[in-house]
Amino acid sequence: MSVKQSENKNRAKPENILVILGGVSSEREVSLQTGQACVDALNKRGYKVRVFDWQKREATQLLQAITTPTPDVAFNALHGTCGEDGCLYGLMECCAIPTTHSATLASAIAMDKLMTKQLLEQSGIRFPESMKLEVAVGNERQESPIPVPYVIKPIAQGSSIGVVRNLEKGKPLPSSRQFPLMIERYIHGREFTVGVFKGTALGITEVIARQGEFYDYKAKYNEEMAASHVFPAKIEHKLATKICKWAELAHKNLGCRVISRCDFRYNPQEPEEKNLYMLEINTHPGMTGMSLVPEQARGVGIEFEEIIETLVLDAWQKKEHKGKRYEAAN
Ligand SMILES: Nc1ncnc2c1ncn2[C@@H]1O[C@H](COP(=O)(O)OP(=O)(O)O)[C@@H](O)[C@H]1O
Ligand SMILES: [Mg+2]
Repeated sequence: MSVKQSENKNRAKPENILVILGGVSSEREVSLQTGQACVDALNKRGYKVRVFDWQKREATQLLQAITTPTPDVAFNALHGTCGEDGCLYGLMECCAIPTTHSATLASAIAMDKLMTKQLLEQSGIRFPESMKLEVAVGNERQESPIPVPYVIKPIAQGSSIGVVRNLEKGKPLPSSRQFPLMIERYIHGREFTVGVFKGTALGITEVIARQGEFYDYKAKYNEEMAASHVFPAKIEHKLATKICKWAELAHKNLGCRVISRCDFRYNPQEPEEKNLYMLEINTHPGMTGMSLVPEQARGVGIEFEEIIETLVLDAWQKKEHKGKRYEAAN
């Protein structure tokens, strides 16, 4: 570490922030929007912001951007592969550059839906029955390992990319092998999502997709096809308490930092012991104009800028804990 870099680290507050956005995953477009919102928030709070639009998976461009000059804090505004899965965090940790959001281990587990399920079921959180989908090419007519209705989705992607529902018998399994896939029992009913900020649930949003649709990419990011959001969700107190408790538990037990968002399905036709299911936890929830966490924060009187600044300050404080693999969860 240079003398200049070590002097900088003694400041109470960071000054220079490098926002890394775009990225090399299938969620690049979403990250460009998330990143811009974060840049605006940091500018509003008076930070000196440099933006790096990461476009290529090769060493020179990335290493140059993160080291010339080395920022006080790197703000990771990426979604998906290489950004949200702990890879970038790990690289930054090796370079001793404080970086926002959850650390490598929590991010890597959260990115893998089957791994998340395995870990969080031990905390008493229920997930739908699911498994890795192995289909030999040319064998798409084989019997599905889970009866209809089911969804097939990538094990480690986001933004609903590649999620396919099969509600009726007779459809072949997908022949596309772009990503490792899982198959999961489809949960009929309602959909909820909960942001957790500093360990506490912000509240519950019900996401209502257009008639006959589900919460797919268009419903998330296309204003004309958008799902409606009801915040706070109109549900009974007991159910709301359980949903929030599961989201907070997932955040804590995975070791997430500052912010996360959990998605749920709820089937009111089922008895209480099998009507609520967590689908996943996101360590880099979207921060676009249509995203759920900023909306929930606004709804409970927390400014968007406060979340973004808390991420930066948390990263800056984490430098005190270098060498400790597991940090206090909050
Ligand atoms: N088991 C399931 N039952 C019903 N709907 C599901 C199920 N899994 C996924 N979906 C639908 O697909 C959307 C995206 O799936 P999710 O598991 O949250 O992955 P991601 O958001 O990371 O792409 C969910 O918001 C939901 O609408
Ligand atoms: Mg989701």
